[in-house]
Amino acid sequence: MAPSLKVTVNGMEFDNPFVLGSGPPGTNARVIAKSFELGWGGMICKTISLDASKVINTNPRYGKLRARESNEVVGFENIDLISDRPFDTWIDELTQLKKNFPKKILVASIMEEYRKEAWIEITKRVQATGVDGFELNFSCPHGLPERKMGAAMGENPAIVEEVTGWVKEVSTIPVWAKMTPNTGDVTAAPRGALKAGADGIAAINTISSIIGIDLKTLRPMPSVEGHAITGGYSGQAVRPIALRHVMEIARAFPGVAISGIGGIETGFDAAQFFLLGSSTVQICTGAMLQGYEMIAKVKEELTQFMVDHKFEDLRDFIGKSLPYFTTHADLVAKQKAAKAARVGAGKDNETWKGEISKETDSLTATK
Ligand SMILES: Cc1cc2nc3c(=O)[nH]c(=O)nc-3n(C[C@H](O)[C@H](O)[C@H](O)COP(=O)(O)O)c2cc1C
Repeated sequence: MAPSLKVTVNGMEFDNPFVLGSGPPGTNARVIAKSFELGWGGMICKTISLDASKVINTNPRYGKLRARESNEVVGFENIDLISDRPFDTWIDELTQLKKNFPKKILVASIMEEYRKEAWIEITKRVQATGVDGFELNFSCPHGLPERKMGAAMGENPAIVEEVTGWVKEVSTIPVWAKMTPNTGDVTAAPRGALKAGADGIAAINTISSIIGIDLKTLRPMPSVEGHAITGGYSGQAVRPIALRHVMEIARAFPGVAISGIGGIETGFDAAQFFLLGSSTVQICTGAMLQGYEMIAKVKEELTQFMVDHKFEDLRDFIGKSLPYFTTHADLVAKQKAAKAARVGAGKDNETWKGEISKETDSLTATK
């Protein structure tokens, strides 16, 4: 029997755990409908706010980091803001989408200014469309912080707790809080959100970055009239950082629903997020670079991974790699003990320090 990719998280029944992350892939009802038809398990719409007239984008707003030899895009920077489409249009579209796709999971990403009335209003009005859940965007690192929104809130655990509490006062559907990686203590903001009743944590949003300087003009990129701001970094290059954030959150809050995000482009990338405690994963840049059709490939790859390991259900391996993180002192102790056991068994006469210097030599030799 083929393994099942179905997963239920906070009562939301996902056909498969692949969710399109908030961003250009969920920019309007037409593309959201297309992604449901193609088989995505869920969809987070582009972040919406009550007054889109305050959202003014620039061009260009993307920058790419390419591998030196293959030219493959390995990192991606954007200075895209939240949705600049009118709130009422979104309300109509979300309502229609839920009518046409009642069984598909549609999550609304919302963001507002630091005012209780605004958060209560957006929560009530969006909830009335019938969406399945909320994702609170506490994490956009550019543009919005100038209005004290996005990462400006997410950097402050007390504000995350307060705002999540406002949403939870009126929300009757699950609420995920989406975290910024641009903080010191990875667990502080999730702790605030969970204290206020958040049902899950989504991590990570983009990493504050500068994609590069144009060496002809000496101007930073992406250059808007010769000037720039720092942007949000995503794509393959951020995956190791995202994995670390998910691991820290999963270990700090066992059993909490985590939606893992950052640099996922294959089903095998996704498997690593499940092994570290995610129960769904989100893909944004990968879908921008490969197209919505990538869903067929990532589902196949995850299924292949499950067949290889004889896992029948995602819950068979969610969090399975978490127990193997420890302290450095413990690694040293474990290595000493393993070495002693090998020497005792007459299999190894070298010191473990010698093994480490062999490893360093081989690294230098490849240069
Ligand atoms: C162009 C672009 C626009 C984005 N817009 C949003 C947004 O409106 N709201 C949000 O929560 N995250 C937004 N994100 C962040 C993504 O949802 C995701 O957290 C991040 O890019 C890391 O995942 P990835 O490497 O799969 O893209 C955006 C990302 C990109 C690349």
